[in-house]
Amino acid sequence: MILIGENSRLMQRYELLERSAMRYSAGWAMVTSSWDIKVTLGRHMWQDAQRADRLRNRLKELRSGPLSNDNNSGLDKVVNYAASAENISEYIAGMYKVVKANLLEAYYHHYKTTNIALDDATLELLCNNISTLEEQCRWAEGLTEFDSRTIYDRVACEKWQNVVSSMLILQGGIDGRETQTAAAAAIIPSRESFKRPHKQHLDDITTQRGRDKAPIEEAGEPWREYVLRNYFNEIGAGDNVASIVFDAPQHVEWEFLYDMARHGWDEYRHAMMGKQRLIELGLDIKKLPIGTGVFEFRDKLPLVERLGMIVFLDEVNGFPYKRRSRELLKSMADEESSDYLAYDICDETRHVGNGHKWLEHLQKITGDKRDRDQLMKDLNELMDERANYIGTGQVN
Ligand SMILES: [Fe+2]
Ligand SMILES: [Fe+2]
Repeated sequence: MILIGENSRLMQRYELLERSAMRYSAGWAMVTSSWDIKVTLGRHMWQDAQRADRLRNRLKELRSGPLSNDNNSGLDKVVNYAASAENISEYIAGMYKVVKANLLEAYYHHYKTTNIALDDATLELLCNNISTLEEQCRWAEGLTEFDSRTIYDRVACEKWQNVVSSMLILQGGIDGRETQTAAAAAIIPSRESFKRPHKQHLDDITTQRGRDKAPIEEAGEPWREYVLRNYFNEIGAGDNVASIVFDAPQHVEWEFLYDMARHGWDEYRHAMMGKQRLIELGLDIKKLPIGTGVFEFRDKLPLVERLGMIVFLDEVNGFPYKRRSRELLKSMADEESSDYLAYDICDETRHVGNGHKWLEHLQKITGDKRDRDQLMKDLNELMDERANYIGTGQVN
């Protein structure tokens, strides 16, 4: 068995790792120009959040006291270091093949050592955590292609893995009890800390600041293509919400990050939906440019405006158009595309709910004293600026 204090101590360490890894899943999703890696990291961001959340809930049950941002484990240094990789292949080598792989081993060990009669809820959470962490580690092991901005150097990646591994041992390993002697002599080169990007790059996809014009008439094939292209474009919304997860101040409520991680992954999924359906309908996505202007404009805004613009303008204003388009697609006998919209409307309803749930908290912790009327007035003015920035006279 594991004594209750030791159980909590270990789970606090895991929780810190999962929560910090979530933030870098968001940051590195923004960095990579590979569509597939970007959306996968978006999914991992949400899986990381769920694993951290399960640990936090169990820690509460075990009366482990409040979870601080830094429990002095030193593990945040390891995660920050692994995230300071030079490119996506290095990041995956250090974060997945060292940090996450070691965490997975610790989960296996913990599962074998604790006792069902005393601690079944921990076994249950470990089982769930193992399942998604195993999937992430397998994905990383199988990756051989990265993005067009990365020259994959296997030897350099292995070297980086060794350095990250030494860094982890220096902090006592995942459980904090690993002996440090072997790593004490390791040279840990200093690296600049990770900075998230502010521009979107996408391999094999044409980008432009503004979007192609919407068809004049809401009807037929051109409108269906327009609707699906709007989804395809949500890759920018994914990056915008990931940036909120990454930029949120340390003292934000955990549940805010948890909801934002889900929100961000939903947006990446919507982009996947669009891409998938466009391909199914025989369209060449390389000839369908994505507009990056909306992403860029929202990216420059402070957190309150960034989230406020998404939830209270873009998402709220989208519902009538989505309902009309749903009916139109049904009348074209395209039940499938129509149902894509039905799924999306469910997601977007939850997203608008995030605005009502969190905007006030976000304002409070960032010192923003505007009431809702003033905020909405300011957001609407920003919408006009956005139309000018994009240069098409339209807001997206
Ligand atoms: Fe969306
Ligand atoms: Fe949304």
